[in-house]
Amino acid sequence: MSAAPADRSTLLQLHAVTRTVRLPSREDLHILRGVDLTVDVGEHVAVVGRSGSGKSTLLNLLGLIDRQTTGQILFDGVETTRLSDRRRARMRGRSIGFVFQQFNLLEGRTALENVMMPLMYGTAGQFWRRERTALEMLDRVGLADRAHQKPGRLSGGEQQRVAVARALVRRPRLILADEPTGALDVTTGEAVMGLLDEIAKDSEAALVTITHDLQVAARSQRSYLLDAGVLHDVDSAHAREALLATSGIREGREAVAGEGAAADARTGAGASASAGPREAIA
Ligand SMILES: Nc1ncnc2c1ncn2[C@@H]1O[C@H](COP(=O)(O)OP(=O)(O)O)[C@@H](O)[C@H]1O
Ligand SMILES: [Mg+2]
Repeated sequence: MSAAPADRSTLLQLHAVTRTVRLPSREDLHILRGVDLTVDVGEHVAVVGRSGSGKSTLLNLLGLIDRQTTGQILFDGVETTRLSDRRRARMRGRSIGFVFQQFNLLEGRTALENVMMPLMYGTAGQFWRRERTALEMLDRVGLADRAHQKPGRLSGGEQQRVAVARALVRRPRLILADEPTGALDVTTGEAVMGLLDEIAKDSEAALVTITHDLQVAARSQRSYLLDAGVLHDVDSAHAREALLATSGIREGREAVAGEGAAADARTGAGASASAGPREAIA
């Protein structure tokens, strides 16, 4: 079955995407069971789901890191499944920026060197201008004065801002953020998300944020719930039921919209001890 042709404003299209892994016990684990998703150019989309629901698996497919078991993933209208590893890596480097929960900065390198890193693999022009471009990005995230610090000397929020600068320094068309606030306290997390949203908007990059935090999801234009390997629109009856059934979330849709806070909301899984209570699917 072939996908409908993508129109010009479509950046990413998933059709009936599955991912199944073979466990050591020789059983198959069906992590994703048929995901359909369209992300338009410059659009901000959130995917919420509890821990173990397949969020990172989905993100690794969107980022062309792993390959789906069945189904189609089109990037800019190009069916990525048939591309060689080399072409996928080139597409990834040129067009996709990543932000991870644990920042994933190189410890031995300064903030500036970390942000310059993707430009080493860019075009010749990007390569020669790498230091200036990286400094501009660090300035954009408010860290120009910390450029020569190593990550160990920076706070969590500062490290994530360096990671945001690194993700955006090659002006990707797609930014993939996997639990970007998961290791930050609430206030710092909100500041980092605000910055990520803003810079993505400035550079007209699409942003897919994967999170278990409904407040983070509420920032996006569209939100989905990943449940048992299937993606549901948060407005669907299924998502509403699933969100209501999740402990700590009494007002499913309202919580997604950033209102109605549940009094007994849990602290986000993997969040630091300083994180305050907030709506989360743990
Ligand atoms: N390569 C793999 N082999 C075996 N199990 C895996 C593999 N990748 C993911 N899983 C399992 O699939 C489920 C979904 O994982 P993941 O996508 O990391 O979830 P999430 O990011 O939503 O917490 C988890 O139960 C995880 O242990
Ligand atoms: Mg994950």
